[in-house]
Amino acid sequence: MHTRILKPGPKALAEAAAILRAGGLVGMPTETVYGLAGSAFDEKALAAIFAAKERPTFDPLIVHVAPPVDWPAEDAGARLAFLESTGLVDLAQLTSRARGRVAALAAAFWPGPLTLVLPKRPRVPDLATSGLPTVAVRMPAHPVARALILEAGVPVAAPSANRFGRISPTTAKDVVAELDGRIPVVLDGGACGVGVESTVASVSRGGAIAVLRPGGVSREALSTAAAAPVTAGPRTVPAGVRRSSPGTLESHYAPSIPLRLLGARGLAGASLPPGSDPVGLLLASGDARRAERHWSAKLSRRVVARSLSESGNAEEAARRLFSALRALDASGAVALFAEPWPDEKGLGHAIADRLRRAAG
Ligand code: TXA
Ligand code: MG
Repeated sequence: MHTRILKPGPKALAEAAAILRAGGLVGMPTETVYGLAGSAFDEKALAAIFAAKERPTFDPLIVHVAPPVDWPAEDAGARLAFLESTGLVDLAQLTSRARGRVAALAAAFWPGPLTLVLPKRPRVPDLATSGLPTVAVRMPAHPVARALILEAGVPVAAPSANRFGRISPTTAKDVVAELDGRIPVVLDGGACGVGVESTVASVSRGGAIAVLRPGGVSREALSTAAAAPVTAGPRTVPAGVRRSSPGTLESHYAPSIPLRLLGARGLAGASLPPGSDPVGLLLASGDARRAERHWSAKLSRRVVARSLSESGNAEEAARRLFSALRALDASGAVALFAEPWPDEKGLGHAIADRLRRAAG
């Protein structure tokens, strides 16, 4: 069986939703990256997600929801009531200050690339949360994700649709490259507009907000919207989750060829593999063709370059990051070198984070 790419329309959505309701898995476009979707309340579907990804079960999943009507951005009470109605979270465990902050963050960034880690209801299977007392919830902005979740009629657990430890997919074709034969269909929602995963933020009982993974919404923006300080939490693994070894965590986003971050002297200061095999170069900004000519002449070997953004724009760089890594990975280069992203402001935080992790 090969995975089929479906153009989204009423027929494709009905087929994909039926697969989800029956406990099967579907490739789902979102504005951040493509997800590997399964019904969040179905243990069999959750187990199939971990198996298809070859992901260890100590790494919990994000559950995606979609409101049936227009999201009540103006009404904090209605937003919290919707969240409760999903059957996922128990907001009564939060103080009123914390609930106010959840409502403010949801109003500002949902639908969109923000995941909130909140107290869970007992009904949420342990497999979705790795046994944690919290569940990660997100309301994606992509119209195909929203339509699929509504049609399925269940919240949808969806990690990025890549095999464990590999680069997150940002097109339907990337999903097939990762999971061909392991899932029946992927809905083609085009190239992802954000390009890096959602920001994962926890809100504690008392209302303390911590970013557990930088992503599509910046820490500054979270802090402004919640009118509260936002701290940087643990890097990858939530508190209380066992990690067998750091090298086994998915969030390494690693290409299959070794990637190193460059210093100020660029490739001139890099320790290149001996021989004349081609090397890959990922520029943070500037012109890739020019860099290829310059470095190929200087090093007397082929240099394959990609630029994240000619003008150094963070939104464009985030959008291109994973596809550029994928292209360099498949370019025939024997080693990859990447310029670090120059700042940690806004989306730059997520870009710099993913580059560091790709470098291991
Ligand atoms: O943009 C995204 O978030 C994408 C798309 C498909 O929505 N999904 C995604 O899922 O990136 P995944 O499984 O690759 O990443 C989930 C992250 C992990 O870092 C995990 O540790 C964290 O969310 N997470 C999930 N549940 C958590 C919890 N209860 N407490 C703390 N962290 C949690
Ligand atoms: Mg992932």
